[in-house]
Amino acid sequence: MKVLILGVNGFIGSHLVDRIMQDTDWEVYGLDLGAHKVAEHLANPRFHFVEGDITISKEWIEYHIKKCDVVLPLVAIATPKVYVTDPLRVFELDFEENLRVVRQCVKYKKRVVFPSTSEVYGMCPDEEFDEYESPLVTGPIPMNRWIYSTSKQLLDRVIWAYGFQQGLRFTLFRPFNWMGPKLDSLNTAKEGSSRLVTQFSWNLFNGEPLQLVDGGTARRCFIDVADAMDGIMAVLRNEGGKADGQIFNIGNPANDYSVREIAAMMIAIWKDHPFRLERGIAEGSTVETGSGEFYGKGYQDVARRTPSIKRMQATFGFEPKVSMIDSLKKTIDFFVEEHKAQEKVVETEN
Ligand code: UGA
Repeated sequence: MKVLILGVNGFIGSHLVDRIMQDTDWEVYGLDLGAHKVAEHLANPRFHFVEGDITISKEWIEYHIKKCDVVLPLVAIATPKVYVTDPLRVFELDFEENLRVVRQCVKYKKRVVFPSTSEVYGMCPDEEFDEYESPLVTGPIPMNRWIYSTSKQLLDRVIWAYGFQQGLRFTLFRPFNWMGPKLDSLNTAKEGSSRLVTQFSWNLFNGEPLQLVDGGTARRCFIDVADAMDGIMAVLRNEGGKADGQIFNIGNPANDYSVREIAAMMIAIWKDHPFRLERGIAEGSTVETGSGEFYGKGYQDVARRTPSIKRMQATFGFEPKVSMIDSLKKTIDFFVEEHKAQEKVVETEN
């Protein structure tokens, strides 16, 4: 199988390449702005990387859509701070650029595996969010936060409609707070605009308090990227065509914690971490902050977000295994290494 991954150097893309190279004989054609997360595969003859920008490398993309069997358009902005501060960029990249790719999949009759998002459920009141039953609930227009959710939702609907009316082969998968090594980059956390676990890691490394937005009562279910990869690989293998025309939540309902609880877990790991002890960095503390202050006026939060994974379980026997604490440890260790590597670069430059 020939797999085209746009955004191959991202969190999901890079882990997918690891898995595909390790477990299959498939070929990967990948495009991204850089290759540092997939560097170890660059010499592999089954991995074909090109440096490029989805908004510019249009001919390369069209040619490779024609050439490949399955397309994963993973390029998107996925950080809430940017939804609030630069909603047009989110719309242009996450919606417009990806719509073009989807239309080419229709034109060349290629299978598309599209990353929808847990955010499409928004403030859904259901205990567990179900792909085929739950309502999708977003806030008023001045709340920019919802531009990501609604851009993704409209693309979900367009893809579904292309399947319904023109026979497009597709699967929509919905990541629920995937985490692990290679998540985001500490550079985004420097500006205070990263996702929770990256942001908290950066704060810990710098002896800063972890900021609990609106008291840290919001709840999320985090899934370790290794478990998430089991899910997406099953979707990609698509045995018996079971993934065709389907929507799947990929998450871990067992790892359901409030932001305050996650802060406490991260502080506990940090307290005994060799890197902290070696450097004599502060143990870690928390401070409460308002969402308006942290994100800006256009932010509205999702109070709780629990996936139903019944469909993944019934279709593929999917069972996530990694506990929150183990996943946090792995992720913090990864960031420590990244932090040390960045320090070395600064030292060399100086
Ligand atoms: C994320 C992003 O929208 C996407 O990455 C993705 O599609 C989706 O969820 C997902 O991964 O399922 P969210 O979970 O709200 O949205 O993003 P985080 O930045 O990880 O925030 C989680 C919670 O922590 C929010 O309640 C936020 O207000 C809070 N938070 C975040 C803090 O209290 N302090 C911080 O420093 C950062």
